[in-house]
Amino acid sequence: MDMAKTLGSAGIIPVIVIEDIAKAVPLANALVKGGLPVLEVTFRTACAAEAIAKIKAEVPGATLIAGTVLKMEQLVAAKAAGAEACVAPGFDPEIVKAANRLGMPFCPGVATASELSQALGLGCTMVKFFPAESAGGVKYIKDLLGAFRWTGVKFMPTGGVKPANAADYLSVPEIVCCGGTWIAPKDAVAAGDWARIEALAAEAAALVKQIKG
Ligand code: 3PG
Repeated sequence: MDMAKTLGSAGIIPVIVIEDIAKAVPLANALVKGGLPVLEVTFRTACAAEAIAKIKAEVPGATLIAGTVLKMEQLVAAKAAGAEACVAPGFDPEIVKAANRLGMPFCPGVATASELSQALGLGCTMVKFFPAESAGGVKYIKDLLGAFRWTGVKFMPTGGVKPANAADYLSVPEIVCCGGTWIAPKDAVAAGDWARIEALAAEAAALVKQIKG
């Protein structure tokens, strides 16, 4: 799987936290229907792997990315559940090496030139920039690109990305997508307000279309 191409085709990736497995499929349906087919299901809850498998089986058109993959057992569970790729908020060389051995595309989080350099050294072609707004925002990524553009590295900023600043990020060609929790707010998921989530996804998809074409 070409991670930059797949994630880039969506442009905005909902970062989702599933507390109740019964919510997984209707949530994914709303996001896909709204126009965001690539979903990051985070390993922040116990049912993450089950949610990935269930969405994959029951929601046509959804592409599943496992998120917050910090431990070896999460990597293995993500693969077994059918995730197409894994992302993490930080850079752990041991996890990246294990993902390489498993043939699992892995996008680690970086926030410094040194971490980016190490990630590239392990063969990563795409990195999260996390926490994007606190770590320096779009200016910081542009400054990193001054030194790293020639490597072809692609970025996925997350952390503080919102409708108000997503366009600034997406206007940078090397930023193939942004991730965020705003498209699937906790209260809307808890209330089962799928119409609101579909509308937020549609708004985000329209923004991507406007910037990336
Ligand atoms: C992530 O893991 O990417 C972040 O939790 C997303 O950050 P946000 O809640 O600011 O969108």
